Amino acid sequence: MIEILGVSKTYGARGAGGPAALTNLSLTVPDGEFLALIGPSGCGKTTTLGLINRLVDPDAGEVRLEGRDIAGQDAALLRRSIGYVFQEAGLFPHLTVAENIAMTPRLMGWPKAETQARVTELLALVRLDAFAQRMPAQLSGGQRQRVALARALAARPHILLLDEPFGALDPLTRDEVAQDVRDIHRRLKLTTVMVTHDMTEALLLADRIAVMRDGALVQAGTPRELVAHPADGFVSAMLETPRRRAVALANALHA
Ligand SMILES: Nc1ncnc2c1ncn2[C@@H]1O[C@H](COP(=O)(O)OP(=O)(O)OP(=O)(O)O)[C@@H](O)[C@H]1O
Ligand SMILES: [Mg+2]
Repeated sequence: MIEILGVSKTYGARGAGGPAALTNLSLTVPDGEFLALIGPSGCGKTTTLGLINRLVDPDAGEVRLEGRDIAGQDAALLRRSIGYVFQEAGLFPHLTVAENIAMTPRLMGWPKAETQARVTELLALVRLDAFAQRMPAQLSGGQRQRVALARALAARPHILLLDEPFGALDPLTRDEVAQDVRDIHRRLKLTTVMVTHDMTEALLLADRIAVMRDGALVQAGTPRELVAHPADGFVSAMLETPRRRAVALANALHA
């Protein structure tokens, strides 16, 4: 279980007077849940993910995993136990697909045969069995994201963090990789936090959705709860489908 308890964060030197990235944010993700984190650019989504694997340390408040404050824990060790998929895949360009996936188990000192078996298993999971020896530059964007996903899962993490994993993909590939993420979540029951800009995606994939604005939580609830009882006009606006928004915009422009 992930608990973010009253966390505030301002980047830069303390007292530098910059705007806060997070203000008294509290958010709990129960074991096995798929949470989507959604909100406008700059509202603090990536910062929130960073709290969970100590890429970002809070100025105030606390982050607990399995009930234990992570502030005192070794950041490198912690990161190896958490899968992270970056927006741009971030594969090691000079390593093959198989070597990319094997990276964390190797760093953790897994026996060679066990790592090899794990790589084979994950290549099947993300439907890239035939691609083990390719280099990242020889893959499509969607294939690269699937390798990044396999790499994040390699060392059997209990937590999976995804930062807009489908952001750079065309809509069809996006749906395909999104479907893979959902299937994998259903199969492995990992506690998952996924950042997205896309409410449709959040509604389709997530058990619960957390809507953020200006470094604070506006509303967290199941897709049904959000749709039935949006907390305010901001959440209602987020729930408007892109198509409805496009139609309203077109009507206004061509009136
Ligand atoms: N390393 C940093 N140094 C200084 N300010 C930062 C840093 N990282 C983020 N910020 C600021 O903190 C705020 C929150 O940033 P964050 O990256 O969490 O937003 P986000 O919700 O992920 O946005 P996006 O959807 O554009 O990725 C922004 O105002 C941003 O400019
Ligand atoms: Mg971000």
